[in-house]
Amino acid sequence: MKVAAIVGARPQFVKAGPVSQAFAAAGHREILIHTGQHYDANMSQVFFSELGLPEPAVNLEVGSGPQGWQTGLMLMRLEEVFQAEQPDWVLVYGDTNSTLAGSLAACKLRLPLAHVEAGLRSFNRAMPEEHNRVLADHCADLLLCPTPTAVANLEHEGVVQGVHLVGDPMYDAVLQFAALARQRSTLAGELQLTSGGYAFATIHRPYNTDDPVQLQRLLKALSALDLPVVFPVHPRTRGALERWNVGTLERSNVRLLEPLGYLDTLALLQDAAILLTDSGGMQKEAFWLGVPCVTLRPETEWVETVAAGWNRLAWTDEAAILAAVRKPWPTEPPPQVFGQPGASTRIVKLMEEAAGGR
Ligand code: UD1
Repeated sequence: MKVAAIVGARPQFVKAGPVSQAFAAAGHREILIHTGQHYDANMSQVFFSELGLPEPAVNLEVGSGPQGWQTGLMLMRLEEVFQAEQPDWVLVYGDTNSTLAGSLAACKLRLPLAHVEAGLRSFNRAMPEEHNRVLADHCADLLLCPTPTAVANLEHEGVVQGVHLVGDPMYDAVLQFAALARQRSTLAGELQLTSGGYAFATIHRPYNTDDPVQLQRLLKALSALDLPVVFPVHPRTRGALERWNVGTLERSNVRLLEPLGYLDTLALLQDAAILLTDSGGMQKEAFWLGVPCVTLRPETEWVETVAAGWNRLAWTDEAAILAAVRKPWPTEPPPQVFGQPGASTRIVKLMEEAAGGR
């Protein structure tokens, strides 16, 4: 089986890591195509080396730009690569512009398309990610869902063919790398952090970064915490802090860092007292690692983590964010709502079966 797998942004490198290993173990040929959506070394290269991903066969070097321009350029370039390679499958991950471009290019060339993380919905059409995932799902032949909620979301949209509950390859990555991260990472020591004695924060969603009032509110909430806060800053957020000049924090408990690699992130996250984030993937990583999470968004796709009591939504109100942090958290470990590990192997098996055992 020859698979063209499309990656472009940080969360996709993490999902592709274990799936790529499963392709190699089953003796399939994977052509990894990097769109170049994320291009800084600490947003891209570090994930390839740490997760053992093969070097991309092609880098489309699309880079940053307006939504339509970025997606359109990827679409044109992917079409050329697919025509030359004629893969048995195109595989896309998640909800980024790279996902949408890969899905449209495959669909228009009538190449079979598999979507990992199918069926996720925030029901917030203000997010480009929501358009991307709905459109990718409606193009896909094989819809690989992480949760029963995702399967139900697809059913509500009339998508029932080719839908499979497989679990989450990000879980495979956490299980594979959590202990190694703790051994390898020296960052907690360098930052003089003690286990359970700090908060971890990330912010990068446009609705949090592109409005100076909202960004200021979140920063004030972080600086009002009674804990040191480590905050690796996404390039979009760094740009906003400079543009709005809201980077001056009232207290010095917030430590702004450059974006971190996967192992440093996992190491710092697993020993954090709490995570405050607007990331999709980190809400799950915190859950699997038993770290409470306050999600700085009006909604989440990962409703299971909220229902289990390990994730709370708090967005525009500083007092609500602080209250969400301070209210007691569950004392029992998080329940197994994301199914068993091994999603990566199940994904490869389903693709094999649908390709007729090639
Ligand atoms: C994308 C995804 C989002 C995912 C996120 C993870 C879409 C619509 N969104 O958003 O689902 O959660 O990645 O980070 O695809 N930049 C750099 N260096 C880089 C990458 C980006 O400086 O290596 C800057 C650029 O100035 C750009 C901004 O960051 O304008 C945002 O990059 P963009 O490609 O729009 O993606 P993300 O916001 O990261």
